[in-house]
Amino acid sequence: MKKFIISSSILSADFARLGEDINKVLIAGADKIHFDVMDNHYVPNLTFGPQVFKSLNDYGITAPIDIHLMVKPIDRIIYDFIKVGAKHIIFHPETSKNIKKTLELIKDYGCTSGLALNPKTSFNYLESVMDKINTILLMSVNPGFEGQLFIPNTLNKIRQLRKKINDSKYKINLEIDGGIKINNILSIANAGANIFVIGSAIFHQKNYKYVIDEINNKLLKNSN
Ligand code: DX5
Ligand code: ZN
Repeated sequence: MKKFIISSSILSADFARLGEDINKVLIAGADKIHFDVMDNHYVPNLTFGPQVFKSLNDYGITAPIDIHLMVKPIDRIIYDFIKVGAKHIIFHPETSKNIKKTLELIKDYGCTSGLALNPKTSFNYLESVMDKINTILLMSVNPGFEGQLFIPNTLNKIRQLRKKINDSKYKINLEIDGGIKINNILSIANAGANIFVIGSAIFHQKNYKYVIDEINNKLLKNSN
């Protein structure tokens, strides 16, 4: 796997031309796609679900798509996504009655999993599941909307999580979601993150390739 992965969040894409816009961002250099599922209950916004995911597959999108579920209750919707071909599923611990069981459900269907931590969520949730997750998705904004400002204290949390991962014997991705832009990506990478979810910074520009190239140029200066 590449040292750094750019995961493009389609929450900022043009929903009327979703398939086309996703192809455009992939051609511009995004490594994968981030699919934010919001339920107007766990988070104060409403987006898309398994049918839209299926349509993207049918349209011919073959790049990896990470499903970021901000939905409560959680288990049934995971199953609905698996039925239509989801391969990587991330959920928030607060949405599950039994985190280990939810992780097992994901694994039983051959998918990889991630646990998403809100700015105020305790790292304690990770204690007994480090052997069961592929990714920690650290939220650098409160989940719900694109275009929010990166919370500065996230950098300290990234350093703590990077140490926790390195001290464990597990290979876990540290992915950051929210407020990432050309001008802060290097500090986020230097703190220890390896996957970057980016929505508005790419989709709100006309030239997606320009933004992704600039981001990759910044990442070349990484000091780790
Ligand atoms: C926020 C979502 C993010 C969002 C990021 O709740 O989980 O994935 O799309 O968008 P930007 O990059 O605009 O902060
Ligand atoms: Zn997200």
